[in-house]
Amino acid sequence: MKCVLALSALAALAAGACNKDIKVKSQSDINTVNACSKFDADVIVDGVSGIGALNMDNVQSITGQLVIQNMYDLQTVSLASLTSARSLKVLNNTNVYKVDIPKLSSVDDLQIIVNPNLKELSYRNITSVNNFQIIGTHISSLGQFMDSEPGNIEVLSNTELRALDFSSVKKTTGYINVANNGRSANITFSSLTDVGGNASFADASTLDIHRLSSVADDFSLYTNSFRNLSVPALKTADKSITISGNSFEVIAFPQLTEIGSSLNIVNNTNFRSITDKTFPKLQSIPGSMVLQGSFDNITFPALKNVDGQVSLSGKGKLSCKEAEAELKAADNIDCSLVVTDSSSGGSSDSESDGSGSEASGAPRAVVATAVIGGALALAAICL
Ligand SMILES: *[C@@H]1O[C@H](CO)[C@@H](O)[C@H](O)[C@H]1NC(C)=O
Ligand SMILES: *[C@@H]1O[C@H](CO)[C@@H](O)[C@H](O)[C@H]1NC(C)=O
Ligand SMILES: *[C@@H]1O[C@H](CO)[C@@H](O)[C@H](O)[C@H]1NC(C)=O
Ligand SMILES: *[C@@H]1O[C@H](CO)[C@@H](O)[C@H](O)[C@H]1NC(C)=O
Ligand SMILES: *[C@@H]1O[C@H](CO)[C@@H](O)[C@H](O)[C@H]1NC(C)=O
Ligand SMILES: *[C@@H]1O[C@H](CO)[C@@H](O)[C@H](O)[C@H]1NC(C)=O
Ligand SMILES: *[C@@H]1O[C@H](CO)[C@@H](O)[C@H](O)[C@H]1NC(C)=O
Repeated sequence: MKCVLALSALAALAAGACNKDIKVKSQSDINTVNACSKFDADVIVDGVSGIGALNMDNVQSITGQLVIQNMYDLQTVSLASLTSARSLKVLNNTNVYKVDIPKLSSVDDLQIIVNPNLKELSYRNITSVNNFQIIGTHISSLGQFMDSEPGNIEVLSNTELRALDFSSVKKTTGYINVANNGRSANITFSSLTDVGGNASFADASTLDIHRLSSVADDFSLYTNSFRNLSVPALKTADKSITISGNSFEVIAFPQLTEIGSSLNIVNNTNFRSITDKTFPKLQSIPGSMVLQGSFDNITFPALKNVDGQVSLSGKGKLSCKEAEAELKAADNIDCSLVVTDSSSGGSSDSESDGSGSEASGAPRAVVATAVIGGALALAAICL
């Protein structure tokens, strides 16, 4: 057996088959690739019917791309020896339930996108990755992620996934987008200090970002189900901060001094008071500010200027007059707050509970857009 492999490897080498792009059309093309321990070109397996198991267990590294897509009959992928690849893309394979990549360690671009029956994805030790996307699968656990400075991380719409442990990550050079995974998902970025692009965290029941100190683009929190949001180390958000549709009762950004653009706090049904502990050091908002909800109090103790428009809306105990008195830093305030008096507090509560269930529907659509944006049109079939 070893001998046969060695011979076919020699034959493959002799034929230069290990460094020529290949569009796989049959099992024999798979064998050709598998005869190479190092493959120096692209392998594209696209829309080939009749292949149930794709095994390339002999291949250790691929310096080009390995793309496996639109394979309707495919059920399992086995890449038992693969330790490095420039890119591994497993896209839109309806029936794949297992992708075995136990040794994969270094991969510039890893995309596992829209494989709705995928239950087992067996990487164990990803140490270097530039683009990491796992979207639209049925996996219930992730492998070990060990890279401390990856590029992008995007984990969306894996509805059985409940533990997202990215505690190795200290910085990203690109964006982070995590949304719409399992109910009561725990999301851990406990070492993360700096995000080089957008940072968006959604649908978490716990979220550890306690070291996060800078975000180079928009920072967003959507439809998270925990009650106490604390971002204790965040000093700067280079663009906007958006907090929408969450269950937060308490929000605290104790170190935040600057926002690069706008501040949006909308549809957080349980959040009623912007206290002196919410944004104690925030000094300037160069963009707009949108506050929509059932507010009883609003205060920004350090705020000196808001350059854009301030929009205030919703029903609470806070009146426009009180709000305007608090927001002297703003010149342009559009206020439509409706005061519900304290004696009818009970009924106003149940009202806001009612709009809460509507509200949690609205930001879901935002998440869905993010799926399409982040994951090509492919993800559209998920929705
Ligand atoms: C996904 O794969 C199926 C066949 O398996 C194909 O009909 C469909 O067009 C593919 N979708 C995309 C977006 O390529
Ligand atoms: C992961 O891989 C790296 C390098 O490939 C190695 O140094 C490290 O020991 C591995 N860690 C585990 C837990 O296997
Ligand atoms: C999520 O975190 C909570 C609270 O820390 C814990 O009780 C629960 O077991 C965790 N769930 C998972 C799937 O890790
Ligand atoms: C960052 O997120 C915003 C939405 O908040 C989006 O419009 C923008 O395109 C994203 N930027 C990048 C570089 O992905
Ligand atoms: C919210 O969490 C922070 C940090 O973990 C803690 O200091 C604070 O006491 C909590 N607030 C409430 C109201 O639970
Ligand atoms: C909020 O405002 C109410 C009056 O509307 C006041 O009684 C209460 O003490 C305020 N709470 C905080 C935390 O400032
Ligand atoms: C907030 O929710 C209301 C309805 O509940 C919806 O009309 C509005 O568009 C939502 N706003 C945002 C910014 O999501």
